[in-house]
Amino acid sequence: MAGINVMVVGGGGREHALVWKISQSREVNRIYCAPGNSGTAKLAQNLDIGADNIEELVNFARRNDVGLAVIGPEAPLCAGVVDAFEAAGLKAFGPNRQAAQLEGSKGFMKEILARAGIPTARYEKHENRDCAIDALERFGDRVVIKADGLAAGKGVVVCQSKMEAERAIDSMMVRRQFGDSGSAVVIEEALEGEEASILAFCDGENILMMPSSQDHKRIGDGDTGPNTGGMGAYSPAPVITENLADEIEEKIIRRVAESMSAAGAPYKGILYAGLMMTAQGPKVLEFNCRFGDPECQPIMARMEGDIVPVLMACIDGNLGRGSIGWSEQASVCVVMASGGYPGPYEKGSPISGLDDAEAMDNVIVFHAGAKLAGDGVVTSGGRVLGVTATGGSVEEAIETAYAAVSKISFKGAIYRKDIGRKAVAR
Ligand code: AMP
Ligand code: GLY
Repeated sequence: MAGINVMVVGGGGREHALVWKISQSREVNRIYCAPGNSGTAKLAQNLDIGADNIEELVNFARRNDVGLAVIGPEAPLCAGVVDAFEAAGLKAFGPNRQAAQLEGSKGFMKEILARAGIPTARYEKHENRDCAIDALERFGDRVVIKADGLAAGKGVVVCQSKMEAERAIDSMMVRRQFGDSGSAVVIEEALEGEEASILAFCDGENILMMPSSQDHKRIGDGDTGPNTGGMGAYSPAPVITENLADEIEEKIIRRVAESMSAAGAPYKGILYAGLMMTAQGPKVLEFNCRFGDPECQPIMARMEGDIVPVLMACIDGNLGRGSIGWSEQASVCVVMASGGYPGPYEKGSPISGLDDAEAMDNVIVFHAGAKLAGDGVVTSGGRVLGVTATGGSVEEAIETAYAAVSKISFKGAIYRKDIGRKAVAR
């Protein structure tokens, strides 16, 4: 069979995991990755095109007969990359610009939830600094301040006091720490509980659920220190029982899909719900318009069968007839990062031990901020590798993942030692 050419857009661990899964498809001919990394280079042809260069992405796809583009990161989705592909008569997986507002604008997301009656933190959105400060009177001491626009996962401050909240508002609205993303802020009541994520495929109408997962957002063991893009993830997340998963499917994911259609923004792509499991049940913290990174890595490790027909069905609107199998195995991804991350860090350090780690059974090393240099691989970003293992239980997967981590080294490497511990505690 001839197969189609696929282009994956992005260059992190998530995109390596997507390329890895897509490379197992029987429906695929060539795979391109823009810009990719040292991991995708082994399975795809990396392109010297940035993930935000929409014009060049479309040009390349047109000239090279790309039948499916899969968009990893949120920034190009929110900037309208899918609209640009569609305008050129090409197929791209992900929400269009309007639907991507579900992640791109927290205010928009909250309106969609309110219309659908989906539980979430009480909030107010303010475009004026003084109004935002006055609004704090209507919230408790523990309050969350969020930049309304995109801020690479850093535009959220969980505050313990009014003073801290005022400081966060000023740094977003006055000092413009996140640029225009801080022209408006969302003030939210703080929710208490354990966090977990549920992702689903969506074709504008139908949904297909993926198993639960849990990220580790803070840099330090025991959830300490600053927020990062994510230091590790595992799947399934036992905090989401089977009953809760059904409730989340019917009362959150399906209702959001319906609410998006009713708002004239039918949603195609990944619906990613970040949830707080509160004493009153699951409440929505956020929606993302793409796979999570690193949640994608353990989820891809557990997905059975061919992903390409599922991605196509989302675009073509016939997901209703689709199904996906999931391995019973648990999966754990431990992120190895550059010393200093999420602050400034060194680049260009040689990475050793990759072959030894990859030779282990039930281990896949997904590359993120890593690139080829001569015969070897060197660090090129904050999050460098996502060392992913599967096992009969979370404990077993954790043990294998850390055994693989211990074989890999680069100067200043840091990683959390407690990935998956909350799952074991349950
Ligand atoms: P977000 O980017 O909105 O997911 O926020 C990043 C992180 O901030 C979340 O993963 C939570 O740990 C925390 N957070 C966000 N909103 C709230 C909230 N309303 N209550 C408690 N924690 C929150
Ligand atoms: N790991 C969290 C995210 O991708 O948003």
